[in-house]
Amino acid sequence: MNSSLSLFNLMHPDILADPYPFYHRLQTEAPIHWDPYVKAWVCTSYTEVAAALRDPRLSTERLLPSEALASLGLQDMIPIYAVLERQLLFIDHSDHTRLRALMNRAFTARRAEEMRSYIQRIVDQLLDTVESRGSMDVVRDLAYPLPITIIAELLGVPVEDREQLKKWSDDYASVLGSFQSIPDNLASVLQSVSEMGAYFDAIILRRRQEPRDDLISALIAAQETDNQISQAELIKNCILLLAAGHETTTNLIANGIYTLLRFPEQKDRFLTDPTIVASAIEEMLRYESPAQYTSRKALTDLEIGGQLIRQRQVVILIMGAANRDPARFPDPDHFDISRHDNKHLAFGYAAHFCLGAALARVEGQVAIQTVAQRFPLLRMDLQLPTWRENVNVRGLASFHVRVDSSA
Ligand code: HEM
Repeated sequence: MNSSLSLFNLMHPDILADPYPFYHRLQTEAPIHWDPYVKAWVCTSYTEVAAALRDPRLSTERLLPSEALASLGLQDMIPIYAVLERQLLFIDHSDHTRLRALMNRAFTARRAEEMRSYIQRIVDQLLDTVESRGSMDVVRDLAYPLPITIIAELLGVPVEDREQLKKWSDDYASVLGSFQSIPDNLASVLQSVSEMGAYFDAIILRRRQEPRDDLISALIAAQETDNQISQAELIKNCILLLAAGHETTTNLIANGIYTLLRFPEQKDRFLTDPTIVASAIEEMLRYESPAQYTSRKALTDLEIGGQLIRQRQVVILIMGAANRDPARFPDPDHFDISRHDNKHLAFGYAAHFCLGAALARVEGQVAIQTVAQRFPLLRMDLQLPTWRENVNVRGLASFHVRVDSSA
């Protein structure tokens, strides 16, 4: 295969900043192809990505077992893989159905909607502090602190611990966004993973003795009724909720505001039509998807797009590309906040569809609408935004805007 088509190119700063021309090239030249550099099939077309996400022959149980890690010289990664094991995202079929049903019970769309006024209060507080300054870094001042505060509240962990939670979770997420086998910050990741496990173990113990009205207590109650979830599963899935619950939402908010400012006519529309917010958030999710890809492992030989995938081979499904597929979305590189028929794959699809989608949508809606209402003169600062060096979790490292009326 031509190395210029390898996913390794995504780490080049220019492609990281704007991966879409590269995705379009893949869609035209090799919509499903074997990438020898990442040792996986790569799939970029909407039809194939959506079909693969709902295909039971493609499993999310894709973690290498300890022996395989050791034989590849990756024994240092074993404690990290051990945390991922038994998380919703890495189990399938009856095991997944059992755990997902239980998490669904504790994590309802109603609970997310009930959080709306709390989310509004936190957004208002965060914006109060930037108003007098006349400028803000959208990532640092809003998109970063909001989701971690909300997920901390929902899980029922003390808000004072949120800097610590953020550091652990950032370390953990950095392993998931690199094609390198051993991360540069391995020592820090190992320490974070171990500390996070001990932290949730202790919190769960406290909630067992004194339940509260929070997600961890609800999960414990479900566990005690049905005895269906072990302590280790509980800890690992709290870590998943923490990591999945804030990183991606941070990026929805910052990427969304950035895109709105890049398309001034859409920003004007957003400002004048308050009913458009829900549809605008969907378009932001499609246009700059915070989770760019996922992967699956073939349980059997199967065919995708005319290619034979062998049992045990891995397929990388790029939702970020599928969401810009011209065969599915007319004029896909145009950002249109009133786009109809916008069934993007930003939250995945089928059995593993994002558990937190309702919450993420409410957070995005409240945050972005409040910014627009309070700062109608919002505009980009001279300092250009920079993208984070993570090819999976797509987000800005910093993004400076002016919120005042001076020129
Ligand atoms: C699953 C994206 C916010 C919790 C997923 C998947 C995607 C995704 C693409 C499916 C992955 C796959 O099939 O391999 C996003 C995006 C978010 C977001 C773009 C924000 C804009 C959240 C929030 C939470 C959350 C706020 C929780 C508080 C989860 C969980 C799963 C998941 C637990 C696993 C579901 C399962 O395997 O059954 N998310 N997510 N996510 N997400 Fe989210």
